[in-house]
Amino acid sequence: MKASIKKAKKVLLGNRRSGYTLPTNNKLYPAQWNWDSAFIALGYSYFNLNFALGEISTLLKGQWKDGMVPHILFHNKNTNYYPNYSVWNCGNKISSSGITQPPIMTSVLKKIVEKNELNKKQKLKVIKIVKNLNKYHEWFIKFRDPKKTGLVSILHPWESGYDNSPLWDIPMSKIKVEKDLKYKRGDVKVVNPEYRPLDIDYDRYVTIKNFLKKNKYNTKKIYKASLFNVVDIGFNSIFLKANKDLLVLLKKFNLNISKIKNYIALTETKIIKLYNHKNNTFICKDLKNKKKIRIPSITNYFLLYADLKNELINKKIINSLKNYNKKEKYIFSSIKPNHKNFEEKRYWRGPVWINCNWIIYQGLKNKDKLFSEYVKQKTIQMLEKKGFHEYYSCKNGKSMGANNFSWSAALYLDLVLS
Ligand code: GLC
Repeated sequence: MKASIKKAKKVLLGNRRSGYTLPTNNKLYPAQWNWDSAFIALGYSYFNLNFALGEISTLLKGQWKDGMVPHILFHNKNTNYYPNYSVWNCGNKISSSGITQPPIMTSVLKKIVEKNELNKKQKLKVIKIVKNLNKYHEWFIKFRDPKKTGLVSILHPWESGYDNSPLWDIPMSKIKVEKDLKYKRGDVKVVNPEYRPLDIDYDRYVTIKNFLKKNKYNTKKIYKASLFNVVDIGFNSIFLKANKDLLVLLKKFNLNISKIKNYIALTETKIIKLYNHKNNTFICKDLKNKKKIRIPSITNYFLLYADLKNELINKKIINSLKNYNKKEKYIFSSIKPNHKNFEEKRYWRGPVWINCNWIIYQGLKNKDKLFSEYVKQKTIQMLEKKGFHEYYSCKNGKSMGANNFSWSAALYLDLVLS
């Protein structure tokens, strides 16, 4: 374990640039990513609190005026990444993408604040961060749930963080690829194409992105206009938990309690309706095409992480989770292996992802001690045996995607040191 802790720190420090950290040190992701930075900050908090707070502050430097925090910040413009800064052509102060990612940062900050003594300077920094995160959450409520349903929408599969999940197959199949689309993928030159999304998926991602750009990323317009508009249970679970954690942080620092409190109550009642406890199934809503999405994705179980005040439902969900990967050597596959769209090696269509295991573990900790410990130990063992990679096969633990992957290293530190 000691050797792995050392290695994990080395991965983070090796990927660190000035004030922010790359998801990996190969050429796959040469920028700062939103939810990666949250996990990375948590990792740093075990050995350098200033690096942790700095990682978050740098991300928030790219926050848009309306409150949105982009999913990518392009600090270094000279890269082969596609779509790069010039293709997105947007950003406030720092060039960025025009979409966001799961807002898990607030929950990470709460964890960091709870386990560290802050000096005066750090406290001022944290207060500034909390205010900016509050703006970010208000942006979600205002622009991603304009009808105040209690659930927010994502407008691009990339916003979920689980880009090519089968969850998006129905809405993606309706996207007509733009005519004469010309672009060059960078990812398949760095990583085995068998592990990456298909070209047809990419054509559709780029089509959705181009449409958002054509609409000048106008937040008021795009909720209705976007080619993709989905209410995802995983994303909303993360947001609900983040809202609860934001409330605690606002109180702690005597800041004004925003509209968040009422919104939490509304989400609690609405999110539960995405779970059918008779059939033990989850749904996401494709609002654009008025269709229900039923895919057995591990991200549905993020509902446990949202800490619903409903013991009965939590228990049922945990029982269903216990059966999810019964036959697999490594947990948790991103999609249930008996599903027709499961692919052992392709990105978010089957492989095991450490951040998903970590979120599930957080959700289980206060509900089922024994099972949560099992999930934690299985994850730790896999990381110690296979190293810090982007994702792994649930069949044999084979590591895939990028190596020296920051969030796998960072979350390892949290699992073994918290
Ligand atoms: C991929 C993942 C996304 C992650 C990014 C950087 O796009 O799907 O979740 O944030 O890589 O690691």
